[in-house]
Amino acid sequence: MALFTVFGSPIAHSLSPQIQLEFADQFGLVNEYRRSLSSPGRFAADVAYFFRHGGSGANVTVPFKQQAYQLVTHTTLRARQAGAVNTLMGRGAGQVLGDNTDGLGLVADLRWHLAKAQVGDLSGKTVLLLGAGGAARGVVGPLLDAGVARLTVANRTEAKAADLVDRFADSRLAYCSMNELPAADIIIQATSVALQQQALTLPANLAAQAVLCYDMSYGATPTKFLQWAAANGCANCLDGLGMLVEQAALSFALWHDGLLPDSRAVITKLLERN
Ligand code: ATR
Repeated sequence: MALFTVFGSPIAHSLSPQIQLEFADQFGLVNEYRRSLSSPGRFAADVAYFFRHGGSGANVTVPFKQQAYQLVTHTTLRARQAGAVNTLMGRGAGQVLGDNTDGLGLVADLRWHLAKAQVGDLSGKTVLLLGAGGAARGVVGPLLDAGVARLTVANRTEAKAADLVDRFADSRLAYCSMNELPAADIIIQATSVALQQQALTLPANLAAQAVLCYDMSYGATPTKFLQWAAANGCANCLDGLGMLVEQAALSFALWHDGLLPDSRAVITKLLERN
């Protein structure tokens, strides 16, 4: 039986075990998937211990994604673009590959919802990304690769948005202050305000002009950002559950020689249960 885990803090409510075991079930595989509570001081030792004691692969969630990037021995291009990893794969003899499937997970979920709403694809769309921290950084490369026409990053600390934009030499990418937000087809909430039960102050007209508003966080009740989007007339208001499952599917494929599970079936199950 192959052993997997997810490292995070807090970790007790992570849906990753449930999602990964559903994926394994689709292929008749019996895996073990745990939750590992860690801490910044112990994280490197916890990861080393896990791979020394039979672990095949792991997910990494808040707040360890950047620390994980520092400790892996090999990285994929998308991990380097993000400067963070959410997926670890043991390669034996202390070697660990770090990948980042968050951005492609977001792109997959956005594409599915745009098609469902019959409003075209990501290519040619204008996007406003709120936030310039670890979560935002992981999705910039895949959004550009998906062919967006313009991607504007807005952040409370404008200098961090400028730094993020500078990492990618792409004329479609720009930054702005939170006081001068441009209208966009898609607005993505990638700050950590939802975790702090806070709200961003956003102009009402932006929601009405957007075809889709997406919050990368998820929870039992709509976030303040999604409440703002719905109250101000956006027709497609989505939380990050789909992204969570899509990124997990890509991690599963990395660990299982490219086997790509049916993510929509698992999203449907989770929505029915919760
Ligand atoms: P994560 O890995 O979740 O992205 P992070 O790297 O600490 O966490 O980044 C948090 C992001 O949320 C940042 O963009 C942060 O803005 P600053 O760079 O100005 O700190 C943003 N953020 C957090 N609290 C916020 C608030 N109350 N209002 C606006 N933005 C906030």
